[in-house]
Amino acid sequence: MSTSTETIEQLKQEIERLRKEKKAVIMAHYYQRDEIQEIADFIGDSLALARKAAETDAEVIVMCGVHFMGETAAILCPGRTVLIPDAKAGCSLADSCDPEEFAEFVSRYPDHTVVSYVNTSAAVKAHTDIVVTSGNARKVIDSLPADEKIIFGPDRNLGEYINSVTGREMLLWPGACHVHDRFSLQGILDMKKEHPGAKVLVHPECRRPLQLIADKVGSTAALLDFAATDDAREYIVVTESGILFEMRRKCPSKTFLAAPAQDAECQCNECDYMKLNTLAKVRDCLRDGAPRIEVEPELAEKALRPIKRMLELS
Ligand code: 13P
Ligand code: SF4
Repeated sequence: MSTSTETIEQLKQEIERLRKEKKAVIMAHYYQRDEIQEIADFIGDSLALARKAAETDAEVIVMCGVHFMGETAAILCPGRTVLIPDAKAGCSLADSCDPEEFAEFVSRYPDHTVVSYVNTSAAVKAHTDIVVTSGNARKVIDSLPADEKIIFGPDRNLGEYINSVTGREMLLWPGACHVHDRFSLQGILDMKKEHPGAKVLVHPECRRPLQLIADKVGSTAALLDFAATDDAREYIVVTESGILFEMRRKCPSKTFLAAPAQDAECQCNECDYMKLNTLAKVRDCLRDGAPRIEVEPELAEKALRPIKRMLELS
């Protein structure tokens, strides 16, 4: 970043002033830039962010994450102002599930329960019976009767993981995240040779072969908990590299290595959407009250039901 340290400090002070003036709470996902995680009131995985949004009495919620996270907060908190630092912070996984195509797919299986990952648009959630996150997907699926027919979307890799641990045969939508789907198995095996004592932490949005070599597969919060309570000294972290900030903060005596991605040309272990948010944009959105996320009430009502079911079940 070209911003000087002094400017970062000034930005932090301005954010502090505006946060109080606007009675705002700043929430950040673990994939946000370090300096945003530093100033957030709350940092969490997508499940914790949804829960926190449902609980907060703040008038303004600044959701430092991607669009679907802001949308989920807006659906859970009607009447509150939900701001997102950069309106272009989308999600390739959410984009891999077009609402009309999903509705058509679902309509072909009327006897199936539709379970959707939280990384979806409100329009996809409106065609869903229960929303899940990677942090509670297994628990929610386990709560359904063993013979229940299930459609799971949009993340194929997470769906395969849940099928493997629950013994289900859920029908999977073929969506994926452009970051998690591109981690290199060979790159991680090579890294393991250099760091034989390192344990491998894998997010379930990664492909099946990576899940199979993992010491722990889990949501960002589950990977953090594992690292904090496990006895290894070194870890290869196979998820978006923003998580390293909180891992190093929580476990200062341990070493966390970002896993390499398949494409040597680009930093594929970074989510370019998550990284669109900057401290300056956090300040701007607090000051301007925009970009604001608003969900049309009829759609919000339909999308709220499966989100509420998730929060009740997990
Ligand atoms: P978590 O649910 O583990 O936070 O991960 C979701 C995700 O991929 C956010 O991009
Ligand atoms: Fe979406 Fe992937 Fe970025 Fe998460 S890491 S916000 S799933 S594009």
